[in-house]
Amino acid sequence: MQTHARAKKSVRGGALPLLLLPGGGLHLIAIFLHWGLASGACPCQDPDLCAPISGARDFEVFVFDVGGKTWRYYDWSQITTVVIFGKYDPELLCYAHSKGSRIVLNGDISLKKITDPSVRAIWIRQKIDEAKEQYMDGINIDIEQRVKKRSAKYYALTALVKETTEAFHKEIPGSQVTFDVAWSPECIDHRCYNYSAIASSCDFLFVMSYDEQNQMWPYCVAAANAPYKQTIAGYDNYIRMGIKPKKLVMGVPWYGYDYTCLRLSEAHVCSLAKIPFPCPKAPALQVPYRTIMNRENSSLSGILWNEEYKSPYLEYQDSNGTFHQLWFDNPKSISLKAAYVKERGLRGIGMWNADCLDYSGGSVSQEQTEAMWEALRPK
Ligand SMILES: *[C@@H]1O[C@H](CO)[C@@H](O)[C@H](O)[C@H]1NC(C)=O
Ligand SMILES: *[C@@H]1O[C@H](CO)[C@@H](O)[C@H](O)[C@H]1NC(C)=O
Ligand SMILES: *[C@@H]1O[C@H](CO)[C@@H](O)[C@H](O)[C@H]1NC(C)=O
Repeated sequence: MQTHARAKKSVRGGALPLLLLPGGGLHLIAIFLHWGLASGACPCQDPDLCAPISGARDFEVFVFDVGGKTWRYYDWSQITTVVIFGKYDPELLCYAHSKGSRIVLNGDISLKKITDPSVRAIWIRQKIDEAKEQYMDGINIDIEQRVKKRSAKYYALTALVKETTEAFHKEIPGSQVTFDVAWSPECIDHRCYNYSAIASSCDFLFVMSYDEQNQMWPYCVAAANAPYKQTIAGYDNYIRMGIKPKKLVMGVPWYGYDYTCLRLSEAHVCSLAKIPFPCPKAPALQVPYRTIMNRENSSLSGILWNEEYKSPYLEYQDSNGTFHQLWFDNPKSISLKAAYVKERGLRGIGMWNADCLDYSGGSVSQEQTEAMWEALRPK
């Protein structure tokens, strides 16, 4: 499941401005320089807040924002970088900079197109201009496309990351360029990238340690989104291929999967299909943590714990009488992963996404929300 890619659909693309030119013709003009610069005055009350953030803190807390205003309630004492997947919000920029946190763009492009080096150059130019006009501090490249090893796309992607990093570092001093990778480097979801080359040419990788059931499905039963052992094995694989732990930020899910069970046994096995093979692809819905917590009281089970996966789950019956099993992460499972981050010396931790929590301010939800942020701090 392409979690990030899916969210991006709602996002304003890097649209090129349409201009009506004298002569009556409608021309599509890409203004790679100075687009919007005329109105690009610093939006912050204190103009110093428009300066790029530079330097690195010891521990990275890397946050994805998908829009809205709930960023006001994030735990800013921890955040080092916010990736903007929603609409650009100048208020968020000024606030983040006042806390010493970076605000970065997200970037995606069809790999088919970028086998042409000039297309890469144009894309990079556009992204740098967009970042500069908005006083942003870098870019998170999120390419979740299939690539065959040693194909034209394989080399083009490696080049894209290297060229983007060099250009950003040169043009926006102190800027950060990061790249999102699957939970393991073993061609997960057909993404056979040159991970070691990509890691060494950007600032760090954000490892999306979730959606780990996509490839598995040995049996058609519901299972954890990010089982502990499997998650850790992914990092061991990245490190074994020569990537330094300080180049890896662990991504944890602040969402879970709601499975509709065909049968639910007393041993808590939620079967998804009559026939074991082939298993239906992704017979589950993504749900944010706040929704899961609201289900707790009306669940049949309360929150259960699976020791094999080191993951919480719960079971409920919908209004049609159908059983559901919901697998997710909570402060208990996330703390275990955060402890690994510290012990293994990874660069930091982050989540998809920060807006999955309940920021409405009720006393129960506030406690649950604080506990999720707190779980990111390795003890
Ligand atoms: C991947 O990148 C590394 C480091 O740049 C390089 O040594 C290696 O040959 C590349 N792998 C392939 C298959 O091209
Ligand atoms: C669940 O029930 C407990 C105990 O009755 C209550 O304190 C809590 O507010 C309820 N939680 C939600 C999300 O309704
Ligand atoms: C109950 O079943 C109806 C008819 O199949 C379906 O449209 C509806 O979405 C179901 N409700 C739930 C909560 O799954």
